[in-house]
Amino acid sequence: TAGSATAVAHPNIALIKYWGKLDERLILPRTDSLSMTLDIFPTTTRVRRSPGAGHDEVTLGGKPAQGEAERRIVAFLDLVRERAGSTDRAVVDTENTVPTGAGLASSASGFAALAVAAATAYGLDLDATALSRLARRGSGSASRSLFGDFVVWHAGRHDAPEEEADLSSYAEPVPAGPLDPALVVAVVNAGPKDVSSRAAMRRTVDTSPLFEPWAVSSKDDLTAMREALGRGDLETVGEIAERNALGMHATMLAARPAVRYMSPASLTVLDSVLQLRRDGVLAYATMDAGPNVKVLCRNADADRVAGVVRGAAQGGAIHIARPGPGARLLTG
Ligand code: DP6
Repeated sequence: TAGSATAVAHPNIALIKYWGKLDERLILPRTDSLSMTLDIFPTTTRVRRSPGAGHDEVTLGGKPAQGEAERRIVAFLDLVRERAGSTDRAVVDTENTVPTGAGLASSASGFAALAVAAATAYGLDLDATALSRLARRGSGSASRSLFGDFVVWHAGRHDAPEEEADLSSYAEPVPAGPLDPALVVAVVNAGPKDVSSRAAMRRTVDTSPLFEPWAVSSKDDLTAMREALGRGDLETVGEIAERNALGMHATMLAARPAVRYMSPASLTVLDSVLQLRRDGVLAYATMDAGPNVKVLCRNADADRVAGVVRGAAQGGAIHIARPGPGARLLTG
């Protein structure tokens, strides 16, 4: 029906991290980032226009959204309404299949699905590039979940006027040779985080003396990563991903006050990854704004890697992901 749309999107894990904004309102990142979209834990979102309603009605997993989550979704809908020239409020229902505490950012799949569903429900005719820019405004990493497999999100032109900068910061697929990777997700702690990624990245940019050097080296990492992906060189992809992520965590450790997402259990898993490599298994770790560890490996080694990592994760859940699809519309 007109005015209603349902979309699905999957989470993504950055191999070259997004950490730091140039512009908080437009969500323009300081650096380019590059990710793999996963084939697990999709988010499905339905947006239904509700002409005459006094406010948006947002539910997450059947429960009314509250606080910061609700505020961000309503702000996002306001942006869509502004573009569509509509004042209609909406009913938004989101089903998130990410297990609580899995450490897979549900904001990436969430805002990617919301962007596609809301744009359709409000009659905006946007191509995938424009949708990635729209999703970016909800959460930076969501811009990458518009596409499947490997995806780059361009920081865009920072020297340009606002409108041009906004237009130039979008995501697109990255060509890759045969890689056949898997990503083993080790959940080591299901507790809520002390510092949100949004606050942590702001503090890092504002206070960490290591931020600029990391941003500079991240540029080289991205160039080398694109080349390695293109020739299907998973070993080099993993090597670069691990150093880029550990470098990002170093920038946070140097922030004032320090932001530390790694727990003792994270370090135990990182040790098990080193041991896997000593045993000749291709395995490299990446971590985001939480204690969980994601291990990139060959798909053929996924069960072995999962077994070793499970032993190290001290009872935490293990999930195995492969490259997954981009966001898509389910129904109009
Ligand atoms: C560590 O995209 O959640 O996962 O733009 O403020 O919503 P906002 O941040 P968000 O940050 C993700 C940070 C990261 C790295 C990454 O996904 O690139």
